[in-house]
Amino acid sequence: MSPSEKVYNPSKEIVKRALIKSMDEYHKLYKEAEDDFEGFWDRLAKDKIDWIKPYHKVLDETSAPFYKWFVGGKLNVSTQCLDRHLDKRGDKTAILFEGEPGDKRAITYRELSNEVNKAANLLKNQFNIKKGDRVVIYMPMIPELPVAMLACARIGAIHSVVFGGFSADSLRDRIIDATAKLVITADGGHRRGQPNMLKPVVDEALKDSCESIENVLIVKRNKEKVNWVDGRDHWYHELINDESNVCEPEVMDSEDPLYLLYTSGSTGKPKGIQHSQAGYILWAQLTMEWVFDIQEDDIYWCSADIGWVTGHTYILYGPLAVGTTTVMYEGVPVHPDPGRWWKMIEDYKVNQFYTAPTAIRLLHKVGPDEPGKYDLSSLKILGTVGEPINPDAWIWYHENVGNKKCPIVDTWWQTETGGHMLSPLPGATPTKPGSATFPLPGIFPEIMDENGNKVSANEKGLLCIVKPWPSMLRTIWGDPDRYVSNYFSRAKKNGKPVYFTGDGSIYDEDGYIWITGRVDDVLNVSGHRIGTAEIESAIGHHPDVAEVAVVGKPDAIKGESIFAYVVLKTDHPKETLTAGIKEVVTKEIGPMARPENITYVPGLPKTRSGKIMRRLLRSVAKGETITQDISTLEDPTIVGKIQDSMKH
Ligand code: WT7
Repeated sequence: MSPSEKVYNPSKEIVKRALIKSMDEYHKLYKEAEDDFEGFWDRLAKDKIDWIKPYHKVLDETSAPFYKWFVGGKLNVSTQCLDRHLDKRGDKTAILFEGEPGDKRAITYRELSNEVNKAANLLKNQFNIKKGDRVVIYMPMIPELPVAMLACARIGAIHSVVFGGFSADSLRDRIIDATAKLVITADGGHRRGQPNMLKPVVDEALKDSCESIENVLIVKRNKEKVNWVDGRDHWYHELINDESNVCEPEVMDSEDPLYLLYTSGSTGKPKGIQHSQAGYILWAQLTMEWVFDIQEDDIYWCSADIGWVTGHTYILYGPLAVGTTTVMYEGVPVHPDPGRWWKMIEDYKVNQFYTAPTAIRLLHKVGPDEPGKYDLSSLKILGTVGEPINPDAWIWYHENVGNKKCPIVDTWWQTETGGHMLSPLPGATPTKPGSATFPLPGIFPEIMDENGNKVSANEKGLLCIVKPWPSMLRTIWGDPDRYVSNYFSRAKKNGKPVYFTGDGSIYDEDGYIWITGRVDDVLNVSGHRIGTAEIESAIGHHPDVAEVAVVGKPDAIKGESIFAYVVLKTDHPKETLTAGIKEVVTKEIGPMARPENITYVPGLPKTRSGKIMRRLLRSVAKGETITQDISTLEDPTIVGKIQDSMKH
C-alpha cells in the first residue's frame, strides 16, 4: 500500500445534503472537543439520548483505565431505538429483510417494537431472565436476531452474539466464559443455496460443561428437522404469541453492560469485550449521522453479519437509534449469482452501502461488469470497514458501484472501540484511496514510537488513542487484569497509560492516517479477526503434531490467508494428515480459521530464548529472500531447511 497521489473531493450534491459540509466545520467540531472535552460530550449526550434520569457527571476518571461515562444517568437502549420513534415514525420501515431464497419482510418500527416487547416478556416470564443475566445468541441473519438482542436490552440482560460460523467448541467456550443461562438459536439458515444448520451445533456445544444453560429457544427458519431435548428446548413461534406486547423497559445505568462480544487476541483465549449502555448508543447514533450522513428518508444497508461488531453497531443499534431503515440480508453475496447485492441495491433503492474490502475484491473478481447491469443511481455514500482497502479495490468500488459520484468512507475501528474512530466525513473530507483519513470529533489518536513519542510524517508507529471515548470497551468480561495489560500497558502519554489499538500506522505529509495492519499476532482473514495462538492451539491438539507456528500470508481476495508451519512427531502420510489438521481447526474454531497452506518443516526458527521468529516465517511464506539477521537464531540453518520444505 502506497499513499496515492490523487485526492477525491466530495461532490456538490453530497455537500449540499451533508450534515457536516466542509473541513472548516469538521475542524470546528474537532476543536470544540479539544477545548472543552467534557463540555463537548455533555452537549451531545443531552441532545441525543432520551434519559430516564439525567447523569450528574460526564466522565469519571478516578479508576482509569476503567472509565465511567455519564455517571448516574439512567436510560434504556431499546427505548432509544424503538419507543421514542413511535409517535413520529411508527409506520416507517425499520428493517427491510431479505432471505437468501428471496423471501422478504418489511417490518415497521411499531411492529418491531411489539415483537421486541413480546420477546422481552417471553425471556422474563418463561425463562426467568433477569437484569444482568447473560444470553447467548447463535442465529442466522433473520429479523428475530435483532429482536432477540433488543429484547435483552429491554430487560437489561446482557447478550453475547456468537457468529454462526463458529464451531460447537467455540460456542461452548463462550457460553462457559459468560455463564449464560439461555441460548437463542434457530434450526438453521440458508447459505449458498444450502441449509446452514445451527441447532445441531448448539446441541453439540451443550453436551459438555454448560451447566449454566437452563433453556434453548429456537426460531424456526429453514424448517429442517432438528433433534429435541424435552424440557430444555422450546420453539419461539409456539410461545411468542402468548406474551403481551407491553414490557416496561428496565431502568439501566449508563455503565451497566449492554453486551459482550468475543474477539480474538494474541493468546489462545478469546476476550469477551464488554460494552456499556449510554456511551455506546450515543456514539452509534452520532457516527450514523456524521459518517453515513443519515437523513429521514434514507435507506441504509450494511452487509456485515450481526455476529461481528459491525453488525451490532451498524445494522442494529446505530440505524435504529437514528430511526432509519436498515436492510438486512441473510446469505452470501454471490448467490444465486454475483449480481445479488447490486440487485438488492436497485430493488431497495439503497442510499448508503457499507461493506468490507474483501467483499469488494471478491465481487470485482467474480463479476467486474455486474454493477453496470443494475440501476445503482440511488447510492449516495459508500463505506468500507475491516482492513486497509487497497487502492485498486477502492477505485473499482468508486467507479463501478458509486459511478464516480459517491464519497467512500473508509472507517477504521475495532470491536473494542464500539464505533467508528477514524473516517472521512462524506461531505467534507477529501479522500485518498486506502487512507481512513482523520479522527472523528472527540477522538484523539496519536501514532507513537515504542517510547511514546509522536512519530513524524511517513514514519511507522503504533496507533494509540490518548483520551477515553464514550463507546470504548469497559473491560474484558471476567478478566479486568487482561483489559489493563492488553490495552493500557504498551503506551503512555504524560505518564498516563493510553489505549493501544494493536495496529501500526503512519501519517503522510498531509496528516492523513494510513493503517498498515496489526502489529500483534492477530490475523485478518476476509475481515474475520483470528488470533494465530487460537489456530496454533487447535492444530497442536492433532495427535501427530509436535509444534506449530501460524502466520498470515497476503491474499488478493481475503486480505490475509492462514499459513501453518507444522513440525510432526512422526512421519506420516501427508495427504490424510493435512485433511486431519484442517478438520481439527474446523472443529475447535470454525471453517473460517482453516489454514490455506500447511507446510511440514523439520523445526521452527527460534531465538536462543525460545521465541518463534514469526517475522521470518511471514517472509518465507511470501517467498521473499531473507535479508534479516538470522545469526541470533538457536539454529540458523533451520531457515534454509524450511525454505527447502516449501519446495515439496
Ligand atoms: C481490526 C479490528 C471494526 C469492525 C470490523 C473489524 C482492522 C478495521 C479498518 C480500516 C484498516 C481496519 C484493524 C483493526 N481494520 N477497519 N478501515 N482500515 N484496518 O473489527 O474484528 O475488531 O478488527 O480490523 O486492524 O484493529 P475487529
